[in-house]
Amino acid sequence: MSEFHFSDGQLQVEDVPLRAIAGEFSTPTFVYSKAAIVTAYENYQNAFSEHEHLICYAVKANSNLGILSLLASMGSGFDIVSGGELHRVIKAGGEPGKVVFSGVGKQPWEIQFALESDIACFNLESDSELQLLNEIAIKLGKVAAISVRVNPDVDAKTHPYTATGLKENKFGVSAKQAMAIYRRAQQLPNIKIEGIDYHIGSQITDLSPLIDSLTHILELVDELEAIDISLSHIDVGGGIGIIYNDEQPIDIDDYASSILQTLGGRRQRLLFEPGRFIVGNAGILLTRVITIKQNDHKKFVVVDAAMNDLIRPALYQSWQQIENVEQSDEPTDFYDVVGPVCESADFLARNRKLFVREDDLLAIFSCGAYGSVMSSNYNSRNRAAELIVSGADVHCVRKRETIADQIRLESVLGSD
Ligand code: LLP
Repeated sequence: MSEFHFSDGQLQVEDVPLRAIAGEFSTPTFVYSKAAIVTAYENYQNAFSEHEHLICYAVKANSNLGILSLLASMGSGFDIVSGGELHRVIKAGGEPGKVVFSGVGKQPWEIQFALESDIACFNLESDSELQLLNEIAIKLGKVAAISVRVNPDVDAKTHPYTATGLKENKFGVSAKQAMAIYRRAQQLPNIKIEGIDYHIGSQITDLSPLIDSLTHILELVDELEAIDISLSHIDVGGGIGIIYNDEQPIDIDDYASSILQTLGGRRQRLLFEPGRFIVGNAGILLTRVITIKQNDHKKFVVVDAAMNDLIRPALYQSWQQIENVEQSDEPTDFYDVVGPVCESADFLARNRKLFVREDDLLAIFSCGAYGSVMSSNYNSRNRAAELIVSGADVHCVRKRETIADQIRLESVLGSD
């Protein structure tokens, strides 16, 4: 049974009806299922059980301390892209020794903080980053473990904003440049060559670009081996895509067997940086209908969640499933589901056949990844609350913001 299911006509998360949650915590609220996160994490773990590996959960997908602490308790590593994310991992009880640091623009303070925390590996993006890392490592008397992010120039066949492995993208370096970086790194006593990494994009539902890029990376691994640079890990980047609508996602076991087969007899430890796969389908956004508006040509359901809570539909034209929280009649009419924000881009769904009345509760599915983390205070709206449900228990892992929280760092001109 899915962690989100109907019981007595009520949509529940695990054992808790969403109507009760709305009553206690109000709306809009992100609600996550602990069991769904645990299951997704274990599915990844089990699929690769026959090969030494480490899952480094991509913190950017959902950096709530409640979620990070749950993953840390299961032994997960973490993929970070900022000093702020490293602070969160440490606060949540994550082991810095299982952290890899990705990203194209690591700043000196972030590098210093990561070195002082003894993270596992810096995923380098350029030669100048190697120089900077080396200088800071010398200053601190540390040895920095590195990997070079290679851009395999493979089309991930995903939304252009979430594709990262084409040569026109800002990420990674060519195989030739990578070779030069490894050779230089070999000469630096405060640098230890550890691995290689790549990431061609997110929400990938086609196996072939993932395998093509690994094949390309392995050629480089072998070339490096030939000049006595042996790597201890291969980091294959983010996780496989999930179901939002009618996608045919890659089966995790097929993914694992294809990756392991392509790897051949090579013994390098594998690193994975899944974000969406672990939390994407483990969360919903609970919202209430404010009003139903009928214009000349169109009907709108105006809800209390908006693009500031969930920007994916506006930014990537993403499709997210919407369900009534209380079982309703058959859908009758087509509506755009919109929020109160003053932008025509403020929509959560378009042309959706629904049965809705004012004050109804709706659940927007697949909001666990890239939902709350991409939210903002646009239109001075308070950020939504976040809850983790486990069985019949509800843990509030982020309180709803107040207007006092929003203006705390600001001042009226002349009062400073
Ligand atoms: N590793 C690196 C280096 C990444 O850049 C990303 C995602 C991941 C791992 C995690 O990928 P995942 O397993 O979640 O697919 N905001 C967009 C997604 C942006 C993804 C950015 N990088 C969305 O809402 O679809």
